[in-house]
Amino acid sequence: MTFLQLQPLTAEQLLAVVELDQLCFGQLWTLDGYKRELESPNSDLLVIEEFSGKEPEVIGQSTQYVGENAAPTALSPEGDPPLERSLVGIGCLWAILEEAHITILGVHPNYRGQGLGQALLYALLKKAWKRRLEWATLEVRASNRPAQSLYEKFGFQEVGRRRRYYKDTGEDALILWRSGLQAPEFPQTLSDWHSSIGDRFRYSHRQFLEADEVKG
Ligand SMILES: CC(C)(COP(=O)(O)OP(=O)(O)OC[C@H]1O[C@@H](n2cnc3c(N)ncnc32)[C@H](O)[C@@H]1OP(=O)(O)O)[C@@H](O)C(=O)NCCC(=O)NCCS
Repeated sequence: MTFLQLQPLTAEQLLAVVELDQLCFGQLWTLDGYKRELESPNSDLLVIEEFSGKEPEVIGQSTQYVGENAAPTALSPEGDPPLERSLVGIGCLWAILEEAHITILGVHPNYRGQGLGQALLYALLKKAWKRRLEWATLEVRASNRPAQSLYEKFGFQEVGRRRRYYKDTGEDALILWRSGLQAPEFPQTLSDWHSSIGDRFRYSHRQFLEADEVKG
């Protein structure tokens, strides 16, 4: 069975996350930037790891990261063969007043179009809800249709534009906004998203786990 485990970034995953950042964004944040996020009480930095193996409760006791993004390994307590673990997605929010600012959302290029982006966005909005934040907001390149389409699916709307915001291309940023995170119906919305994400992964014979669902 293949598992996709969604969890907060750990210090052991720092090198792998910098490599994933390089692949997704051409280095948006440095190692020090990610370390600061780990320490910030106002940040939720989530990752998705893919691994194959036995039940999730026997893994993660001893996780050792070795350089390359796709090469981390973990030994089970029974001494079974090392598990291949790959960091394949990353998402981050900053809590500022009542707002969740989504600062990073990226999926490994080989894993796009399989539902990982929406799993990350769902999890970030759930974190925002748990923090009792009212709205979520972010900036997206005017040309980035895949990301815009993903955000629309989760109820984001365009509320403005920052002219020539991206220095590399001079492109505009669209400002997107998602309200209603504390509306009475939002927990049901989260639950519906969770079900449809799980169904999609089951269809491709993978199981989606959030950290708080993993035993032990
Ligand atoms: C944007 C990104 C995170 C989407 O991740 P993903 O795992 O490919 O997305 P998913 O497979 O979960 O797709 C979810 C929805 O996004 C939209 N989407 C994803 N890829 C798309 C594409 N190539 N074209 C159009 N819409 C697309 C669709 O609405 C899709 O829903 P559907 O599968 O029901 O059609 C990913 O493309 C990425 O990492 N891009 C580079 C970094 C980036 O641009 N991040 C956003 C910065 S604001």
